[in-house]
Amino acid sequence: MCGIVGYVGKGDAVPVLMNGLSKLEYRGYDSAGVAVYDDTSKNVNICKTKGRIQNLQDKLYLTPLKGRLGIGHTRWATHGEPSDINAHPHSSGKEKIAVVHNGIIENYMALKEELMDKGYKFLSETDTEIVAQLIDYYYSKDSNLMSAVFKVIERIEGSYALGIICSDFPDRIIAVRKDSPLVIGLGEEENFIASDMPAILNYTRNVYLVEDNEVALITKDNVKIFDNNGSEVKKEVFKVDWDIEAAEKSGYDHFMLKEIYEQPKVVKDNIASRLLDDGISLDKVKLDKDDISKIDRIYVVACGTAYYAGLVGRYLIERVVRRPVSAEVASEFRYKDPIIDEKTLVIVVSQSGETADTLAAMRLAQKAGARTLAVVNVVGSSIAREADDVIYTLAGPEIAVASTKAFTAQVVVMSLLALKLALELEKISIEKYRQIKTEMEKLPSLVNKILNKEPVIKRFMHKYIGSKNVFYIGRGLDYIVSMEGSLKLKEIAYLHSEPYAAGELKHGPISLIEESTLVVGVVTQEELFEKSVSNMRECKSRGAKVLAVAMDGNSEIRKYADDVFFIPRTHWMLTPILANIPQQIFAYHMALGLGNDVDKPRNLAKSVTVE
Ligand code: AGP
Repeated sequence: MCGIVGYVGKGDAVPVLMNGLSKLEYRGYDSAGVAVYDDTSKNVNICKTKGRIQNLQDKLYLTPLKGRLGIGHTRWATHGEPSDINAHPHSSGKEKIAVVHNGIIENYMALKEELMDKGYKFLSETDTEIVAQLIDYYYSKDSNLMSAVFKVIERIEGSYALGIICSDFPDRIIAVRKDSPLVIGLGEEENFIASDMPAILNYTRNVYLVEDNEVALITKDNVKIFDNNGSEVKKEVFKVDWDIEAAEKSGYDHFMLKEIYEQPKVVKDNIASRLLDDGISLDKVKLDKDDISKIDRIYVVACGTAYYAGLVGRYLIERVVRRPVSAEVASEFRYKDPIIDEKTLVIVVSQSGETADTLAAMRLAQKAGARTLAVVNVVGSSIAREADDVIYTLAGPEIAVASTKAFTAQVVVMSLLALKLALELEKISIEKYRQIKTEMEKLPSLVNKILNKEPVIKRFMHKYIGSKNVFYIGRGLDYIVSMEGSLKLKEIAYLHSEPYAAGELKHGPISLIEESTLVVGVVTQEELFEKSVSNMRECKSRGAKVLAVAMDGNSEIRKYADDVFFIPRTHWMLTPILANIPQQIFAYHMALGLGNDVDKPRNLAKSVTVE
């Protein structure tokens, strides 16, 4: 997804912009560019190109840009193909005004026609170019840049974070935000803008979080932020406490591997202050018996991996708390006219807190009167700020596109939530809770034990890398782990894989089982063991190879599988946290073995901020 960085200060803008863009690479992009004000020629000069940031670096080597004011962008195409022309920044006719934009201008076609009627010419197919041209149009009337920007935001519809510079004002960046993240970094005689923190963490930890419909005027010594009526807004400085190392690879070959190995700490962080001896404390979320009694319908809404974490939550709440819960993919939930009222609780799960469908689903629920509870990783993200309650997943920045540690953190939080509800409604005793608490506290070291067996999984990769189709099967919680395992393999290994409820195989998909098929059977739910292994046997007898994930000490499984990965024993509720980790490592090694770009898989973006 697109990324923005901007610089105004005493230093050279280009190295800061390029550094920032490199930190935004993980968001997924197909082109990149910078616009820099040149003190000598008094022009805004643009350099942009399709492809990787290295291509931009090469281009800048041939035609260097120099200046102390600039904006940069990584683009993930939405309007018009990835190309040099469609790359950002976009400018008004004579490159007087340059704009970078994240989001989508929904009414750009009508505005484009209007401007074309006035004689404006367009070079690109993008929606963003109309923003630059429209600012130019209003600016040409009274040479008041700020007022031109305000007029433009009255005209444009959709979502946008904008960075704007103009050759008539070489001391400033104007930044605007609506439904797309934007922060302002505060430095000494220099200030920054960015669509997300890693882009500026090398330079500052002090930021202003720009809210929807705010416009900021940023010079090297000053930042002023206005609401959409033009009144100045006073902001608190937000201190970013991430370790800069946390946003970098720390010696691992890939962000994904680093993030996989961070999971013991992530689990520990998520339980540390929450698992109390006499119950569970979920940050500032108040969910006592009285609150819960006001709720008669619960939805869990999310996308992708976060949705699978939501499914674990649903399963546990239903099974342990005995309250019905619907889990819905956000892009479906939004359009089905869901039954929502003041007695509805909508739990949204999102790593980024910016996923367009999840955010829209949450807003829809709020509008209909629901109470919303967000399980979010990115502090200060839109979902985190707009939800009625937030539980942070404390996973730190997740850079690899394929989610690993964020999923684990989400599952831990959903398990805590289920336990909290169960305790409040007296569905489990405090003694039972304490037993589960003891098991939870062991999880970080159990995750470590799995990580220590990475070489075993690497051997499986060598054995199964030639598989043409992969089925992931399981029952109950194991089925949910299968869904996430299968998604991971698709995302980064680009292998066709299907998750199936093991009992469903016979109802159709078994016809696809043949000798080149790999079946990954997850069998941690011992009450379902006999049923699951009988499905594995059916696959094996049709020529498939079977790789099982089972609990330590289950020697019986060897009869049904070609290979087994054993995970340490734990309470049945907690098995998804452990059983998912070998799936992550397997997908990682399969992707590497197939020569894929693990951290930036094709066609995918880290944060899906378009519908
Ligand atoms: C996970 O590996 C995927 N990249 C994707 O499914 C992701 O989980 C989904 O887009 C939801 O993102 P969110 O958690 O940031 O809302």
